[in-house]
Amino acid sequence: MRLILLGAPGAGKGTVAKLLTKLDGSVQISTGDILRGAVAAGTELGLKAKAAMNSGGLVSDDLIMGIMAERLQQPDCAKGFLLDGFPRTIPQAEALKILLAKLGIKLDFTVEIDVPRAVILDRLTTRRTCSNSSCQAIYNTKSNPTKVNGICDKCGSPTIQREDETEAAISKRLDTYDAMTAPLVGFYKKEGNLLTVSATDSNVVVKAIQDKLAG
Ligand code: AP5
Repeated sequence: MRLILLGAPGAGKGTVAKLLTKLDGSVQISTGDILRGAVAAGTELGLKAKAAMNSGGLVSDDLIMGIMAERLQQPDCAKGFLLDGFPRTIPQAEALKILLAKLGIKLDFTVEIDVPRAVILDRLTTRRTCSNSSCQAIYNTKSNPTKVNGICDKCGSPTIQREDETEAAISKRLDTYDAMTAPLVGFYKKEGNLLTVSATDSNVVVKAIQDKLAG
């Protein structure tokens, strides 16, 4: 499958993407994970991205499009991909449309995961993420705790709170979403290719996607 997953921070894009990858071998492409990996490795990309990320703002469209043009051409994308956290602005959506046309790739559709703001705030303050940049498994102290407190079930690395999970950064991320990313719902609705799922259960989101894919 080839999908875009849209939704506010904490809507569950990463969680749903990980469930979908198990269905048909499609790969999750999270620009947030790629950027966090670069920050952890101290690469030039990481240095450029760090300040914007930690404050809850966005990394520049040019930098993101450079990453994605390269990533979408890697062989593991042949089985399908789930775009998690990309595109995030209208210019990124327009550039993606051109890029996919150039690569001869057709998207199935865009999924908007719609979750109430109160649920989102609760989730973001209780999320824990694996600190190993090649794992980045997602947990939640309430809904999905690790078996051993503070240790990733999958790779044994410590789990951490992300640097953008301070109260100030969460509030800025939600404002950034409303201003820069929410307009993409209208963009993809206009393209006639949007599935909106209002659900707090990730399995309900996955089922709605499977139903639409089955036509
Ligand atoms: P990114 O990593 O994409 O962050 P985000 O969009 O803020 O999304 P999150 O990862 O916070 O949430 P999610 O929707 O994936 O939720 P999750 O599944 O983890 O981006 C980080 C930063 O990088 C940005 O702020 C920006 O600076 C930069 N960036 C990234 N992409 C960019 C781009 N294209 N352009 C410019 N800048 C970019 O779930 C959240 C929590 O809830 C978890 O604890 C999870 O366990 C729990 N949970 C999830 N689903 C459920 C459920 N159904 N029931 C109970 N708990 C649940």
